[in-house]
Amino acid sequence: MGRMTSVIPQLHICSHPLAQHKLTILRRKETEPKKFREVVREISTVLILDATADLPLVDVPVATPMGETIGRHVQDRVGLIPVLRAGLGMVDGALEMLPSAEVWHIGLYRDERTLRPVEYYNKLPVNPTVQVCLVLDPMLATGGSAAATIDILKRWGAKHIKFVGLIGAPEGVKRLSDAHPDVPIYLAALDERLNDIGYIIPGLGDAGDRQFGTA
Ligand code: PRP
Ligand code: URA
Repeated sequence: MGRMTSVIPQLHICSHPLAQHKLTILRRKETEPKKFREVVREISTVLILDATADLPLVDVPVATPMGETIGRHVQDRVGLIPVLRAGLGMVDGALEMLPSAEVWHIGLYRDERTLRPVEYYNKLPVNPTVQVCLVLDPMLATGGSAAATIDILKRWGAKHIKFVGLIGAPEGVKRLSDAHPDVPIYLAALDERLNDIGYIIPGLGDAGDRQFGTA
């Protein structure tokens, strides 16, 4: 893990103990969908803190009950872009930290035979309405879905895009960073590899099925 983190400068692995603790609950095969959804929401809050650590601030005057001072304020409009289905579970945790964020859904699924992403939902308006886009998807496996989502956002005109996920495979991190070297990647873990049907090992299984009880 350390080696890849150091050769791919845009990859950030969240070492926060709470993120690591929560990820272990998600990996555990006994964790049932209700608990799984709860913990996806919680860990997303921690990851969002990491992914927004460099948002620019502007000075604003503020009146406290005791007097006047200068406070600081995030001015950029932030868009959350959950990739359906599994990215949906990350939205509420992200909104706890960014309550004014806009949420724009992108629907993609991976064709199980070719492992290529197939787009089925996109209602982005004609022009971008946000300055920063945070793509939310728990799993970065081959990287096809993430790269395709970011292609869509760039065609929309988005300039500052970040990917926020739970677990990445080295193959997916490489594909995403080769395709979009300007996009930082925030994860809770970089795992060992993909298996021959494109699942992350050790991973946590199918993130959509585990959230929605559809395995
Ligand atoms: C999962 C996951 C990602 C994609 C990752 O979605 O949520 O979107 O696979 O794989 P990739 O990096 O190889 O593209 P899936 O296609 O299973 O759809 P679902 O969330 O609707 O179940
Ligand atoms: N999608 C998932 O949900 N899990 C994987 O391991 C790979 C792709």
